[in-house]
Amino acid sequence: MASGASKLVMSFMASVLLALTFLLSGAARATDATAAAAMVRNGGSPSSYGGGGGAGAALISRGGRSLLQAAAAAAATTTTQSALFSLDSYGAHGDGERDDTAALAKAWSAACASAVPAVVLVPASRSYLLRQVTLSGPCESTIKLMVKGTLVASPDMSNWNESNRRYWIVVRGVDGLAVAGGGTIDGNGEGWWENSCKINKALPCKGAPTALSFHTCNNLSVNGLKMVNSQQIHMSVEDCTGVELAHLSISAPGTSPNTDGIHDGTHGLHVTRLVCGPGHGISIGSLGDDNSRAEVSDIFIDTVHLYGTTNGARIKTWQGGSGYAKDIVFQNMVMNSVKNPIIIDQNYCDSAKKCETQEGSAVEVSNVVFKNIAGTTISKNAITLNCSKNYPCYDIALQDINLEMVDGNGATGSICQNAKWRKSGTVVPQPCTGTN
Ligand SMILES: *[C@@H]1O[C@H](CO)[C@@H](O)[C@H](O)[C@H]1NC(C)=O
Ligand SMILES: *[C@@H]1O[C@H](CO)[C@@H](O)[C@H](O)[C@H]1NC(C)=O
Ligand SMILES: *[C@@H]1O[C@H](CO)[C@@H](O)[C@H](O)[C@H]1NC(C)=O
Repeated sequence: MASGASKLVMSFMASVLLALTFLLSGAARATDATAAAAMVRNGGSPSSYGGGGGAGAALISRGGRSLLQAAAAAAATTTTQSALFSLDSYGAHGDGERDDTAALAKAWSAACASAVPAVVLVPASRSYLLRQVTLSGPCESTIKLMVKGTLVASPDMSNWNESNRRYWIVVRGVDGLAVAGGGTIDGNGEGWWENSCKINKALPCKGAPTALSFHTCNNLSVNGLKMVNSQQIHMSVEDCTGVELAHLSISAPGTSPNTDGIHDGTHGLHVTRLVCGPGHGISIGSLGDDNSRAEVSDIFIDTVHLYGTTNGARIKTWQGGSGYAKDIVFQNMVMNSVKNPIIIDQNYCDSAKKCETQEGSAVEVSNVVFKNIAGTTISKNAITLNCSKNYPCYDIALQDINLEMVDGNGATGSICQNAKWRKSGTVVPQPCTGTN
């Protein structure tokens, strides 16, 4: 593939106490079938884990059905066993003040070496302070990370290296991982926000950590988790296939800079049942910055409620990029007081100085469907299709759209430049009256 293929495909920009609940699944769906198969193996005594945990490290949990429900269901007639690796058995304090990074790392190593499916447990009602930590695979058996309590980031920014400050918790090279438990991952981001150049203009612009990153994996499931106040991006998934992210709630204050919800560099993304607001709404992009190539396709976004967001359904690309964003559907959306309900912007620019005009190349935008979208906008232009002169947007379909000014404040309108669109059903506002 060309260098610099799409990195950032979709970000749910989290802001003002944005509450985000959604079900999202990748091209191949993760199932617990693999876990079930592996669980049939017999595990013995704790000593068989050999993972180098401390004394009393591994506790066998017989019939761990509540923890591995799907597996238990699939292997209902088999006695299943899984090994439990609780942070508390590895010397964690769980007081939210003393550092528990080593305890998590040790519990993880032991679990990863387990001959039977392993559960790493973050116990309920307690808080575990963590510095940067990388949980690596491959592992001997499937692993489940049960976060019942809270993982909280160290507030001390000096725990982060200048050269290495873009992550907090990283999971790398683990196949079949399930993360669940209903607990909380707290990025404790206030200090980072205060030191962001977007908040304090006197400071140089430097990236801050992504709270939870998954790299290089197959069959990842993250289901039922609360993420709050990340230092920068809340969650990122890179180089993974078969990803299912479900029932997540992500929130940070509106004043927090770039605390995006989820970044997912993938093809074949399916998002349903998303509630978001206030915040930045749903964006595909930005794509093509620094003349980079982006390849984004097969994105399906269905059943969304946005309230008070800056954008509704947005695709944004920088001038001078290359590649494409195509085969994208936004449908069944309700918007309340959204600033830019429908927007394709091929002239996106988010830098301190004005972006140079670069008409020689662009990330091409095509086959985008906006369907069954209704609600209110706070700005007059409810539909914006601002496309490139030499690479116009084409195959843009607008179907059954009704966007009105909030409080019935006059008629809505649209802006259009270099866009080839068609409409069906009733579309309010009429797109691109005047020049096209
Ligand atoms: C900072 O990075 C260097 C080199 O990667 C490493 O040796 C050192 O342990 C790191 N320090 C901290 C506090 O992580
Ligand atoms: C991922 O899950 C699929 C479907 O259950 C399975 O066929 C495949 O072997 C799994 N891949 C890995 C690497 O675990
Ligand atoms: C399209 O975006 C560019 C850059 O922001 C802006 O200068 C231009 O006026 C926009 N076009 C329309 C028709 O608003």
